[in-house]
Order: sequence, then C-alpha cells, then structure tokens
Amino acid sequence: MDTDIKLRERNRGTTATRENQEVSSFDLTFSDLSYTVGKGETAKKILRQISGTFNSGKLTAIMGPSGAGKTSLMNILAGLKKSGIEGRVNVNGAERKFKTFRKQSAYITQQDHLLSNLSVEEYMMSAAHLKLGNDVSEKEKKLTIELIMNTLGLTNSQSTRVSCLSGGECKRLAIGLELIDNPAILFLDEPTSGLDSSSSLQCVAVLRDIAKTGRTVVATIHQPSTRLLDQFDQLYIVAGGSCMYQGPVNSLIPYLQSMNLQCPDHHNPADFAIDVASGEYGDVVFRLISGIENGRSIYQDNSSTSCVPSTSHDTEVDEVDETDFMINSHLRTNKRGKNELSYGAPFHTQVAVLLRRTWRTIWREQILTTMRLTLHVCIAILIGLLYWQIGDDAHAIYNNAGMLFFNHIFILYAAMMPTFLTCK
Ligand SMILES: Nc1ncnc2c1ncn2[C@@H]1O[C@H](COP(=O)(O)OP(=O)(O)O)[C@@H](O)[C@H]1O
Ligand SMILES: [Mg+2]
Repeated sequence: MDTDIKLRERNRGTTATRENQEVSSFDLTFSDLSYTVGKGETAKKILRQISGTFNSGKLTAIMGPSGAGKTSLMNILAGLKKSGIEGRVNVNGAERKFKTFRKQSAYITQQDHLLSNLSVEEYMMSAAHLKLGNDVSEKEKKLTIELIMNTLGLTNSQSTRVSCLSGGECKRLAIGLELIDNPAILFLDEPTSGLDSSSSLQCVAVLRDIAKTGRTVVATIHQPSTRLLDQFDQLYIVAGGSCMYQGPVNSLIPYLQSMNLQCPDHHNPADFAIDVASGEYGDVVFRLISGIENGRSIYQDNSSTSCVPSTSHDTEVDEVDETDFMINSHLRTNKRGKNELSYGAPFHTQVAVLLRRTWRTIWREQILTTMRLTLHVCIAILIGLLYWQIGDDAHAIYNNAGMLFFNHIFILYAAMMPTFLTCK
C-alpha cells in the first residue's frame, strides 16, 4: 500500500533520531492497596490489600471476572480516584506525585467521551496539533495520524463523523488520540471490547509495540482469545479485590497446575482462569491468592523457584523493529527532559486549535445554531425597535445607558447559558 511504503521510508529516516532519544521508563508498584466506597454500614470493600508491579517495557493485562475490581484498580493507579484508598503507589520506587503523574500517563476509559460532530481525521489532527506542538511539521503530523488510523483500521472512516461511528471504531479513535504523543504510562480499560478479533489483535499489537519502546502499558481485558492473550507479556488476575495471579502469560497454566488445577485440553487458559476466579472450582481462590502473596510476588515458571519478590524484575527492553509503529519517533521526552513535562503546544496554539475545533462543533449543531442565530436576530430587531431614534443628546442618557445594560446582560447570559446547562 502507498501509505505503508511512505511510512516505512519515514521510519527509516527517523531511526537515527529514535536511537538518540532518551526513553523515560516508569515502573509502577503498588502495595497493600485497599479501596472502600461508602461509609458505616454501607461501606463496601472493593480492593483488599492488593499489591503488584507493572514494569516498563512490558504489556500487562489485568484480567478477572466482572465486578472483581479491575476498573477500580486502574482508576486508583491512574490517579482518578483519591478518596477511600489506603496503601502506597510508587513510580520507580518513589511515591507517586499526582501532578506530574497525570501528565506522564494517559487513561483510556471504558466509556468514550468524544465530541460527536467532528470527523475522525479532524479529531486526530486537532489532537496532533495539541500534543505534538509546533516543532513537528503539518506534513509529519498528517503522516502520523495516517499511520495511527491505518494501524487501528480507521482509514476507511476518516471522514466519518464520530456520531456515525460504530462502538468499536469510537474505541479505536479514543486509543488513537492517546497514542499520538506516546505517553510514558498508558492505562486502557477494556480496549478490545467491541472490536472484532482481528481489530483486537491489531490494537493489542500496537500496544505491544508501544510497550517495547520502554513504556508501561496496562490494559484490562475481557474474554481474550488465546492468540490475543499471547500478545501480552505479563498477566495480573484480580479475583474479588485480591490478586490471584501475577506473572508471565505462559506461566499461568503451570501456576494453576502447581495448585492442583488442571486446565482442560483445548480450553482457553483465560476462560479457565476466570472460571477459577469466579469460584467455579471451589475455595481454591484463597490458596491462589496466598500462593502469590496477594500480588507481592511474581510467579516464575522455573523448576527451582516458583515465586520471586515483585521488586526483582527483568527490565530488559526488547529491540524495536525498524518498521514498528512510528509514533516512537514522536517520543517527546528528549525535548522536554526526563522529568520536566509540559504541554506539547504553546498556549496560543492550544487556544487556536480549540477555538477552531469548537467552532466546527457548534456550526455543525445545525438546529441549535439556527435557533441561536434566529434568537439573536429577533432580539436585535426588538431592541432596535424599542430604542429606535431614542436620541443622542444628554436628555436621553438614561435610555441609552438602559439599552447598553440590556445588551450586555443579553450577551452575557447567552454566552453563559451553555455552561449553566452543562453544570446543571
Ligand atoms: N463508587 C462505587 N460505589 C459502590 N460500588 C462500587 C463503586 N465503584 C465500584 N463499585 C463496585 O465495585 C465492584 C468492582 O467494580 P469495577 O472495578 O468496576 O469492576 P470490574 O471493572 O472488575 O468489572 C463492582 O461490584 C462495583 O459495583
Ligand atoms: Mg471494568
């Protein structure tokens, strides 16, 4: 394909730049994390002294039955939830600082919150302007979003408005928007839900490539196929708010075997593990939780040692293939320094891009825009008639002041109304 060739050429051109780039890596550890909602008798414990490690350079899947606490865990780790939490979350061994952490990480929620009146390409382009800033040329930005759209299978719907996209396409767009500036830590809540099997594989392959660049990628995953699960490096299984397994994907079966749980032949290990976590095989879950010390250790399938403390991990980052996903070339870290994280675009660019984007959105709200215009014209005629030739000398001063006051109030309230309605 034409784009493929262009992208390959571009990748070749950026390999040298990439080699010089300093990739900041963030290992995320959490220990004895508890999360309770509600107070008094209605208090509900969602996470129970759970621990774990998500390493940079690895693609980690969080799995578990529905209601196990996967989303809650991810919300806490991403810094979205702050109350009702006990325990520690560390980044590279130091306590996580909310302010910087929110800039280092990106979180793609299960529900997409997208503006419905923009097309995929316009959305991606606005995000590219905001995230990549003015250092990257328009052509490069276009190429970047072309590739992301191509990888996520959005090329055919690039001119389609978000309101007309399918659920899966919306999800892919949400992922694509976050992929533009390749954050250091990427959290994804069920990124493959709503995607067909090949798109899921494509999507996870992209995440894997991002992880290979030294980033920490954590995704909750729902009913993965064996092929999809194989794409992940690490697996973290949550059962009833506790950790049931933590370790490499291919060590899951040996771990379950070591606890006398035999996965039936031709059975998807993920389904089997979820059945176990749901309690279909009896009280074995408690043994599994204590076997992995509720996430304090990582299971390694060696005949000599089975569990190692979660602090000792392999931080080796795989070599990235030259034709790998080219957003690697947009790692901004080398420009901004390792810890100094700022917005990609300067303030005036942000304002300009957001104004353009909002103007498009408003203009395409046809009914609302027509109503607003009609209302303004009607009020203008009304006020015009009311104060028609009222006089421009001193005796008409109160009338003139009254008209100015009325105009100001009208403009003010008309502008403030959408905000009131949003906050209502
Ligand atoms: N704010 C809340 N108030 C009450 N219950 C909650 C709240 N947040 C989550 N829960 C409950 O906690 C459990 C875990 O939720 P969640 O983390 O979304 O599960 P998962 O993502 O694994 O399906 C669910 O039973 C859910 O109903
Ligand atoms: Mg969930």
